[in-house]
Amino acid sequence: MSITYFENERIFKLDTPNTSYIMGIVDEENFLGHVYYGKRMEDYHVDYLMRTQEPPFVPSKNNRERCSFYDTFPFEYPTAGLGDYRESCLSIRTEGGHCGCSFSYVSHRILEGKPSLTGLPATFGDKDSCMTLEITGEDKHAGMRVKLYYTAFSDTDVITRSVKIENMGEKPFYLTKVFSACLDMDNQDFDMISLHGSWARERHIQRKTLGYGIQNVSSFRGESSHQDHPFLALVTKNTTQETGEVYAMNFVYSGNFRAQAEVSQFDGVRMSMGIHPENFCWKLMPGEEFQAPEVVLVYSDKGLDGMTTSFHHLYKNHLIRGEYKDKKRPILINNWEATYFDFTTEKLLAIAREASSLGIEMLVMDDGWFGKRSSDNCALGDWVVNEEKLPGGLKYLVDEVNKLGMKFGIWFEPEMISPDSDLYRSHPDWAIAIPGRVATESRQQYVLDLSRKEVVDYVYECVAGILRSANIEYVKWDMNRQLTDLGSYELPEDRQGELYHRYVLAVYELQDRLTKEFPHLLLENCSGGGARFDPGMLYFSPQIWCSDDTDAIERLEIQEGTALIYPLSTMGAHVSDCPNHTVGRVTPFETRGIVALAGTFGYELDVTKIPKEDRDMIPEQVAMYHKYNDLVRRGDYYRIASYSQNHKFDCWEIVSEDKGEALVTFVQVLNRANFKSRRIRLKGLDPRKQYRVEGTEECYSGEALMYAGMHISNPWGDFKAQLIHLYSV
Ligand code: DGJ
Repeated sequence: MSITYFENERIFKLDTPNTSYIMGIVDEENFLGHVYYGKRMEDYHVDYLMRTQEPPFVPSKNNRERCSFYDTFPFEYPTAGLGDYRESCLSIRTEGGHCGCSFSYVSHRILEGKPSLTGLPATFGDKDSCMTLEITGEDKHAGMRVKLYYTAFSDTDVITRSVKIENMGEKPFYLTKVFSACLDMDNQDFDMISLHGSWARERHIQRKTLGYGIQNVSSFRGESSHQDHPFLALVTKNTTQETGEVYAMNFVYSGNFRAQAEVSQFDGVRMSMGIHPENFCWKLMPGEEFQAPEVVLVYSDKGLDGMTTSFHHLYKNHLIRGEYKDKKRPILINNWEATYFDFTTEKLLAIAREASSLGIEMLVMDDGWFGKRSSDNCALGDWVVNEEKLPGGLKYLVDEVNKLGMKFGIWFEPEMISPDSDLYRSHPDWAIAIPGRVATESRQQYVLDLSRKEVVDYVYECVAGILRSANIEYVKWDMNRQLTDLGSYELPEDRQGELYHRYVLAVYELQDRLTKEFPHLLLENCSGGGARFDPGMLYFSPQIWCSDDTDAIERLEIQEGTALIYPLSTMGAHVSDCPNHTVGRVTPFETRGIVALAGTFGYELDVTKIPKEDRDMIPEQVAMYHKYNDLVRRGDYYRIASYSQNHKFDCWEIVSEDKGEALVTFVQVLNRANFKSRRIRLKGLDPRKQYRVEGTEECYSGEALMYAGMHISNPWGDFKAQLIHLYSV
């Protein structure tokens, strides 16, 4: 890794092990241009690619065509309103109501390590693993200073970017758009890959041709959302899992976002990402600064596999924190699909007793334990234990569970308020709403106005008070509705446009306080399944509930899309009962276990009621988890085949860091007549090593397994899964 400034040529060059990123300063006005991002180069003499020698030339040579210059130059951080008609990254409004701003390079610093981002989650690293370039630019007319941050890592091919805006004038101005990163490139005939979904159908991979104009994915639902994901990749047409060039962006943020690509009239492509400008307007007072969230950039010339490896490495080593960062998680059993709201202490203890005898290590009590909550239509905000359901209180239940040798975990939905709650009756103005307008309900609930300090403090004390009252070792933090009716009873008129972002900052503050006061707590984020599965939340919780769809076959596509970016150790995955509660499908219990093994692994069923043959299989699955989880959590993940593409079977592989062992998972969806076996080619092995297939006498070289392949025999029946464990001899 290195960051160098070549003074004579006015060129910045950032290097990671296999990639280079190059920018240049041009003309008397110090425009900062993007030159190159791609395969690592030692030569940095590529500033000719900024086209400053081609008409319309730079403004000092041809000011008559300044507008054409603005509209064609590959800006590193494009600004709005002065002649660049492509989508900008920065837009402001002055007190006089005027827009238009610019960015001229002023100075830079090269820093060891990586500064943190005030109030925001971000990747981190020390001086051996990364270095940071801070470029300061100014718009004197607007009284604005803009700082661009770039961090290059030494152990993964990642460059992160973020932006800070400072008001150095004497009057306030309003930020109406602040994106965090931009790549102005020449179009190479790209396809665009994004992750699309819905409730219970999150993060399905979508690939389409990039055409002229703007194409984007976004959320202005107040969270990163089920529907679109804060991720975008532009890939050359020839891109497969193993080949082709990939430019990817992922946002370390859990609120509104927009990720977009714009192909211009001259076949340039501008790729950018940041906070969604809809309903965003931030008042910046003189002397104040605004920190925009971080974007992770990955370039790979080894197809999607190369991209995935870089993201996984970054998130495992430079984002996820805390005690469970690299620790095996307790196998949990959650009572949601087992009982929904209909449970008592006795019922939960019956589940716990049976579960502990089978080797399950933690009981998680889900929604319904507080206030008058016997359905989802009331009581959010009343975080007082319902002693009718839980006689003897929470401590009694937790102690009894602990006596069985199990840990205890609990569910909260702290950001919400039910209209039918004591909290709402005493503080109706604590809900997000447009004063005077009846707010839209969703799941019969409102969202708390977390821009208010007293609301944040109330929420924190409710959660922390419960955690202090008993030996609770896990929290599932849920969020079951998206934001509407953006209005705060407290924010002044000219700051209502800050509500979305202030809300997200408050969620981060709450989780920060929680993880500091309870450093041993295992936190799992969740949002109606996986609507807030993003790097921002991973900074606080090492795992996130992936989806409310627990069907093993539906999970193939959801987990494939999720694992395109995020390590397997982060994906909440449980074995549930059949017919599956979301799709009604019946799959073998064994398959459900094998698919959940690719995530955190746990159960979500009434273990006292499931068929005996399923129950009898649990100890085997528990043993399987203990045997393979270190490999699943720490190993390198490879996608071998995709059911969503071939409509026949799914296959993925995990290889240990030292390449001494590998675990292959093969899931056949529908069986077909007259098939004997399938040849699959493995990845990531040591070509010179010999690998034995566990439980057989078969032994093959890594070379043979990777280049020629191995046979997987065709299982009898539908929805059948197999695990193949290979170890070097
Ligand atoms: C949505 C979650 O994803 C479920 O697992 C469950 O916790 C429910 N909410 C409870 O209301």
